[in-house]
Amino acid sequence: MIHTGKQAETLKRMAVGRAKTSPLRVLAISSGKGGVGKTNVVTNLAYALSKRGKKVLIFDADMGLGNIHILLGLAPKFNLEQVLSGQKSVEDIIVQGPVGIEILPASSGVQELTQLNHEARLMIFEEFDRVSENYDFLIFDTGAGISSNVTYFCSAAHEILLIATTEPTSLTDVYALMKVLYQKHNQKYFRLIVNSVKSEKEALEVFRHLTAVTDKFLNHVSVEYLGYILNDANVPKAVRQQRAFMELYPYSKVSQCILDLSDKLLKEKINSSGDEFRPFFWKDAFQVR
Ligand SMILES: Nc1ncnc2c1ncn2[C@@H]1O[C@H](COP(=O)(O)OP(=O)(O)OP(=O)(O)O)[C@@H](O)[C@H]1O
Ligand SMILES: [Mg+2]
Repeated sequence: MIHTGKQAETLKRMAVGRAKTSPLRVLAISSGKGGVGKTNVVTNLAYALSKRGKKVLIFDADMGLGNIHILLGLAPKFNLEQVLSGQKSVEDIIVQGPVGIEILPASSGVQELTQLNHEARLMIFEEFDRVSENYDFLIFDTGAGISSNVTYFCSAAHEILLIATTEPTSLTDVYALMKVLYQKHNQKYFRLIVNSVKSEKEALEVFRHLTAVTDKFLNHVSVEYLGYILNDANVPKAVRQQRAFMELYPYSKVSQCILDLSDKLLKEKINSSGDEFRPFFWKDAFQVR
């Protein structure tokens, strides 16, 4: 691809920023149920990873209702619409967030990626493959539900992190998501973060309830407990101020929960030579040939 002067400038800016230090890890954050804290987890986990020196790109995959940029007080000028029409490259639409986080904004008004025609998908996934290489972490905020957009982004990721709360509807929805991901996309490995709890004990109870059901009805599927996030009034307070709570309230208990999660992720040994962690995955994941 030939880069225009502006695109070359953008690439240079990206090159001089924080450098990538490890093989790319692609995480999808999903939940089935809406409003359980996905976007806050994505934003603040990205913040914590970035603080730990990782180069992170958040992909707002909530096509219709994406709001990462609102949570971070950003106003992106462009989105995938301009990439699809050939006016911009993916680098041009990426916006800078706090502590070096980069954000690929949502594209309301653009057809879901899974619905694009073959040429458009091929073009966009080639662009994503190229850009993804620059990061340690790529995090998808998938949006609610179990639509094909949600399940494709989960399948394109290396790791699926599910978010649930103590509400029974959250458990049934997360179960429905796992079921469709297993039955239609052969995904067998999930990790659970329980959000908005009073204590870790409460989170472990939610985990036990979920595994009781999966062990019985989805016994080829494995769910691992990744951690918990406390309910904290600082979360809605930070949302209202359109900043990450990790930034505004770094010493709050909820920020400590996010730091624990990010440290847990960073301590994991990742087999970078394995097929699972191949750098170029978009076309394969979306089966574009
Ligand atoms: N740990 C928490 N403590 C207190 N409030 C929380 C917590 N996590 C999330 N919330 C509140 O829940 C609301 C929904 O959070 P968020 O937008 O992150 O959810 P979501 O799962 O991304 O929603 P959607 O499915 O609509 O995309 C926010 O207004 C936020 O303030
Ligand atoms: Mg959201």
